[in-house]
Order: sequence, then structure tokens, then C-alpha cells
Amino acid sequence: MGENAFRAFRVHLEEEGFSSGIDMLNLSDLPDNEVTIEVFYSSVNYKDGLASTPKGKVVSSYPLILGIDLAGRVVASRSPEFQAGDEVLCTGYGLGVSHDGGYAEFARVPAEWLVKLPEGLTHQESMAIGTAGFTAALSVERLLQSGVQPGNGPVLVRGATGGVGSIAVNILSRLGFEVVASTGKPEAETALIRWGASSVISRDAASASVKGALGKSQWAAAIDPVGGAGTGEILKTVKYGGTVALSGLTGGGAVETSVFPFILRGVNLLGIDSVYCPQAERLELWKRLGSEWKPEQVLQDGVKVYELEQLEEALSIVLNGKAIGRQVVSLRRDK
Ligand SMILES: NC(=O)c1ccc[n+]([C@@H]2O[C@H](COP(=O)([O-])OP(=O)(O)OC[C@H]3O[C@@H](n4cnc5c(N)ncnc54)[C@H](OP(=O)(O)O)[C@@H]3O)[C@@H](O)[C@H]2O)c1
Repeated sequence: MGENAFRAFRVHLEEEGFSSGIDMLNLSDLPDNEVTIEVFYSSVNYKDGLASTPKGKVVSSYPLILGIDLAGRVVASRSPEFQAGDEVLCTGYGLGVSHDGGYAEFARVPAEWLVKLPEGLTHQESMAIGTAGFTAALSVERLLQSGVQPGNGPVLVRGATGGVGSIAVNILSRLGFEVVASTGKPEAETALIRWGASSVISRDAASASVKGALGKSQWAAAIDPVGGAGTGEILKTVKYGGTVALSGLTGGGAVETSVFPFILRGVNLLGIDSVYCPQAERLELWKRLGSEWKPEQVLQDGVKVYELEQLEEALSIVLNGKAIGRQVVSLRRDK
């Protein structure tokens, strides 16, 4: 092991079985890509939780450095787009699932995966936003594009204490929407109000079974990182012309619905994918996340910072649906 060895949290799948932990690696162990980055922060998303267990079925090659997000400084680049010293972030693509990710002091990625750190965000703030916050921004953008406006009525945010949910609450409230936060954690009500919710309802009430094909019109729109049976019930109560932006599956992968919300109320069900979001839209949304959409309230008191040695604890919290707000991992070596 060379004197420039660095720490990396890896998963292994070998004959003896699955294992994970911190390994010491050299730069030559990283994939051969254009840009080498000294990583300062990463974050903990639900997908990282899935990647940390063999049952998660999101990792496609072993051994692998986990971490679907990273922020840091370029130390070497073969791409004319980036120079040593550039501050950058990366979310999605193959990072942390098929390509070595952000839970390491160094990473090497293709130039086209990178975004220059937007003005208005520190490395740590960008990772407190991370994939989950970017997905929240993309969901809000899709609602706006579909014609949903603040005057249309309340917007339901499911999984509101989670990463996508908490940042969606904050962005929507900054834009003047009435936000109804649905949560399974009644103890988080005060935090949700601080982050911008107008009111808080229980997870069960939000996804309660509605008799028949349609229920009372309630929601101008919904941001739904939870999925499962609740999505089908919520579609029955979306107002005429309203939109559901569906991004996740913490509540289940199967959604049952009928044609009636779509053909009688013109409801839109929009799929949200942050992983391969085209670069032009990615850059625009990150710019907004550093300025007029910056989730200031969540960044102020909804972020917990972990050291790499504490990562397993953070992964288990997110996997069990217990996280409140966002979890960031510090990889800084200059502490
Ligand atoms: N499509 C994309 O590009 C994309 C990007 C990012 C994330 N996602 C997906 O979005 C989902 C959320 O990700 P995240 O990182 O925000 O996760 P997270 O921080 O763990 O948040 C998930 C939240 O869902 C709620 N929840 C947990 N278990 C539940 C259950 N059994 N039934 C109903 N609600 C439950 C909890 O909030 P409450 O207790 O407040 O209800 C939890 O905090 C994941 O499925 C993730 O894979 C997709």
C-alpha cells in the first residue's frame, strides 16, 4: 500500500459471502476515467441503503465503492472541460451502483457526469441536497411544467421527513405553494412546519383507501417518493388537471389504479428519473438549488453529518425509513 493510500467504503461479494467496510486503496485502484476528484462530502440516500445490502439489487459489479453522490475538488483532468482546482459535484449515472462512488477520499469519473459546484452552495450544502434534493427539484419542475400553480390548491408531499420529501416541502413553500406534508413520524411535525409545510397529516390518512374509482378532489398535485398502494389512492383524490410526480418506492413497487382519474379528471402521472436527467436541465436545476430554490430551512437544521467510520449507522437509518431530513458523509482529510 503506497503512502498515498486513501479510505474507501466498499462492498464485496465473494464465495464466503457479502461483506462491507473501509478499505485502503491507491489511485491506481480507481477506474480509468478523465477526471480525478478529491472528495470532501457525499450523502446517504435510500438507494445507498439498498446498495449496502445484497438484497437491495442495485449494485451490478463487486467490489464497489458505494456512494451515489459526491462533491469535491478536481486534482487531475484529461478533459478540457475541467482543470485541477475546479469545485465539482456528481450525482447519479453509474456512481455507487456500477461505477466506484463517493464514499472514498478520491474518485475518478467521466467528465460528462460532472457539474461545477453552483454558486451559492458549499460542498457540504450540495451534498445535503444530493440526489434526493435534486430529485425533489426535478419533481417540482415537472409539476410547474404541467401547469400546476400556487393558487391551484394544496400540494401533498409523501415521505415528507425523507430526503426527497423534506427538500420538496422546502422548495414548494419557497415558491408560495400550500404544502401538506404526509409523514409516519408524528414527532417531526414541528420540523416539517419549520421547513415550510402548511399542515402535517399522518401517512395513513394521506394514503387511506378511497371507496370507488374517484374520491373527493383534494390535491392540486402530489410529490410522491413513496409509491405502493397509496399512490393509487392519492390519484383518486387529485383535482381536475392535477399532477402526481412519482419518484420512489419506499412504500412499495406496485401501484394499482384505474383509468378514471386520467379520463374523467385529466390527472397526470409523471415519472421522475434523476439518474439520467439530461445535462442541460441538470445544470439549470443545480443553479436554482443554489439560488431561488435553495432549501435554506432544511439546510439550517435538517442535516446530520457523519464520518466515514459511522457510515453503516447512517445507511441502516435510511434503509429503515427512520431518517429525518438529510444525512451527509464527511470525507475531509484537513480536519
Ligand atoms: N427516481 C429517482 O431518480 C430517485 C431519486 C432519489 C430517490 N428516489 C427514490 O425515492 C425514495 C425516497 O428516497 P430518499 O432518499 O428520500 O429516502 P428517505 O430519506 O429514506 O425517505 C423516504 C421516506 O419515505 C417514508 N417511508 C419510509 N418507509 C415507508 C413505508 N413503508 N411506507 C410509506 N412511507 C415510508 C419515510 O418518510 P415519513 O416517515 O415522513 O413518511 C421516509 O423518511 C426511494 O424509493 C428512492 O429510491 C428516486
